Amino acid sequence: MKYGFFDDNNKEYVITTPKTPLPWINYLGCKDFFTLLSNTCGGYTFYKDAKLLRMTRYRYNDTTPDTNGKYFYIKDGDTIWNPGWQPTKTELDSYECRHGIGYSKFTGTKNDVEAALVTFVPVNDPVELTKVTLTNKGAAKKDIQLFSYVEWCLWNADDDMKNFQRNLSIGEVEVVDSTIYHKTEYRERRNHYAVYSVNSKIDGFETSRDEFRGAYNGPDKPAAVIEGKLHNTIASGWYPIASHQINVSLEAGESKTFVFALGYVENAEDDKWEAPSVINKKKAIALLSKYQTVEAFDLALAELCSYWDGLLAKFHIESKDEHVNRMVNIWNQYQCMVTFNMSRSASYYESGIGRGMGFRDSCQDLLGFVHLIPDRARERIIDIASTQFQDGSAYHQYQPLTKKGNSDIGSGFNDDPLWLIAGTSAYIRETGDTSILNETVPYDNDMSVATSLMEHLKRSFDYIVNHKGPHDLPLIGRADWNDCLNLNCFSEHPGESFQCFGPSEGPVAESVFIAGMFVKYGREYADLCKLMGDNAEADRALAEVDKMIKAIEKDGWDGEWFVRAYDAYSHKVGSKECDEGQIYIEPQGMCVMAGVGVDDGNAVKALDSVKEKLDTKYGVMILQPAYTRYHLELGEISSYPPGYKENAGIFCHNNPWISIAETCIGRGDRAFEVYKKTCPSYIEDISEIHRTEPYVYSQMVAGADAKFHGEAKNSWLTGTAAWTFTNISQYILGIYPTLEGLSVNPCTPAEFGDFSVTRVYRGVTYNIEIKNPNKVQKGVASLLVDGKEVEGNIIPFDGSKKTVSVVATMK
Ligand code: GLC
Ligand code: GLC
Repeated sequence: MKYGFFDDNNKEYVITTPKTPLPWINYLGCKDFFTLLSNTCGGYTFYKDAKLLRMTRYRYNDTTPDTNGKYFYIKDGDTIWNPGWQPTKTELDSYECRHGIGYSKFTGTKNDVEAALVTFVPVNDPVELTKVTLTNKGAAKKDIQLFSYVEWCLWNADDDMKNFQRNLSIGEVEVVDSTIYHKTEYRERRNHYAVYSVNSKIDGFETSRDEFRGAYNGPDKPAAVIEGKLHNTIASGWYPIASHQINVSLEAGESKTFVFALGYVENAEDDKWEAPSVINKKKAIALLSKYQTVEAFDLALAELCSYWDGLLAKFHIESKDEHVNRMVNIWNQYQCMVTFNMSRSASYYESGIGRGMGFRDSCQDLLGFVHLIPDRARERIIDIASTQFQDGSAYHQYQPLTKKGNSDIGSGFNDDPLWLIAGTSAYIRETGDTSILNETVPYDNDMSVATSLMEHLKRSFDYIVNHKGPHDLPLIGRADWNDCLNLNCFSEHPGESFQCFGPSEGPVAESVFIAGMFVKYGREYADLCKLMGDNAEADRALAEVDKMIKAIEKDGWDGEWFVRAYDAYSHKVGSKECDEGQIYIEPQGMCVMAGVGVDDGNAVKALDSVKEKLDTKYGVMILQPAYTRYHLELGEISSYPPGYKENAGIFCHNNPWISIAETCIGRGDRAFEVYKKTCPSYIEDISEIHRTEPYVYSQMVAGADAKFHGEAKNSWLTGTAAWTFTNISQYILGIYPTLEGLSVNPCTPAEFGDFSVTRVYRGVTYNIEIKNPNKVQKGVASLLVDGKEVEGNIIPFDGSKKTVSVVATMK
């Protein structure tokens, strides 16, 4: 069952009922100012950091009810309704929500009144703009009232939801004309405030939530709206809000439009006040004055759309498969931008107050983002590397506002260092910009011990070399990619964090997954060493990689698949010797991607085992058989009910690893089959089962052991976005950036047909035609570059050209 449809021409998903199984959200904002917005107008806004600079309030633990947002109420006689349906839930005569790329549109009608909202954040200003158009579709004149509504968050979202004894006494606002200023804590340690304004005269305002709602009412029954009159109260403490009242008369057929602006303003420390206790509003007025007209609004929206058109043009495919076209050209790249911006901080499932930017998460997000805005990727790499420790290990997370490592979670996730190599290598393969390797980058933000980024990569690499266990495999530490495989934790009491409890490092527990990563990214490190002319270091690295391959072959192979790990007793995890958890997905994907087993047939065996033991119609599960009891020596993984999350869920993030691994052994049919199973557009028809948004990936789909097999959770912020885009664009479609130039080496299903790709790479536009006359799955027989035959798969890079046309014919 569907709850809407894709409108590819407009790059929109059109939701046709507000009653989706879960809130289906969109992200507004490209860089610093962000809004999460659901299909019923729920959500919240923050500036730069969802924890520290939260502008509007959301209510947690409330995913389906979705009960706070930026609402518009319309009072038409005794009927009160919202164009996005919530919060009054008055049945609408018609409803439509269009989530587009960086904007959303809502149209609701009730009793001959149509209310159309368009909302977005301009490319370069810290403000969310909403255009509200009210139209009288009937034959008689209408006198109606429009009320806006936002509830302020008192900036620190964590404190805001806990520290009521203080917070209920500190709220402060000012109101001038049509602008409501939220200035809580501005008098002491903050130099920022928020504004909510409208480009017209108002008939009233409200800044006290209790006045607006009345005692014991929720936002669904606001007393002041029912009364039809706001009381112009200046809030003092309690719950400050911003609401405008506009009385609107509409002749038959007439429309009226209002532009609302919700903005963030920062003042210089010595320029905070215009009079004692009166905030300096100059910057707010300047910001708001830019968006006083419909023309200015429309222009800024057009600018946003062309900004996105430019970004999405960097990779564009035309094939006969509409799902691939739609996901690659629109939604997958869009999600890559969102995950780059948010890491795992703020979604409807990540509260925005817990994790900030993850070291491993953000490094992986780069893989799907770097082609879009390489300069921002560069900046991010430096930020991430600045949270590394001198021994090569790293803070697991950092706060986006301060860019400082988060000591609550600390370090000890032993896969982290290698992801820095992965992200940096992707950046250099994309841009050719080796100057980044010479940048001076601190450790733990301490400039006095800074070194070159290249030295950071060396320490990442050596961290693994220097932390091996009894089988010469890498020690796992607190966990590797699988945060829930906690082999040194041994937690027996509720409330202890599986990620932080116990010693950060045990001398025994080892990870075959990290071993696979070491082979893959160790080689990429060696390539960078060679590129920089350090052949001795490259040779040293490759010798270490060879040792690791031998260790995997000796103790990381279980006969039919790769072992997952060794626990603190040196017992195998992910082996046929185990009673539960006999096979895991991660080492099969990572080792084969690294090339381990490709020559001796083990890769084929491992991937066949994956298909036989882990596959379901909704994707490939993380492990089997699921853990049915708590294994103290394994940690959180065995704490989830079978089929959910890391305990045998379909963890979408590593499905592309299997798909990529299949391309490494040339099986395009199977690679694509794996791609399709979790691909949102392909499963749109089962939205009632899948439940999360059909235009983006979710972190997890419940596995075969779960009660709700096929149901997804945790949409939007997942490494699935970057890895899937890497998989489809670089491995299946086969346009892979190397250090020397673009390589063309597709691995598609036999029936995929010819296709063409436009790829903007290092400033050159490549128009690439791929022909597959003999319906093979892999192998390029000839590569014509501007009409000339080229040996091998790589298009030699020539920066003097603007466009290059390429024809690749498969064997
Ligand atoms: C979550 C985390 C990610 C981790 C994965 C598997 O998605 O964000 O860092 O690798 O879970 O545990
Ligand atoms: C939980 C989640 C896992 C996440 C981890 C880190 O263990 O299950 O996916 O990565 O928390 O916050």
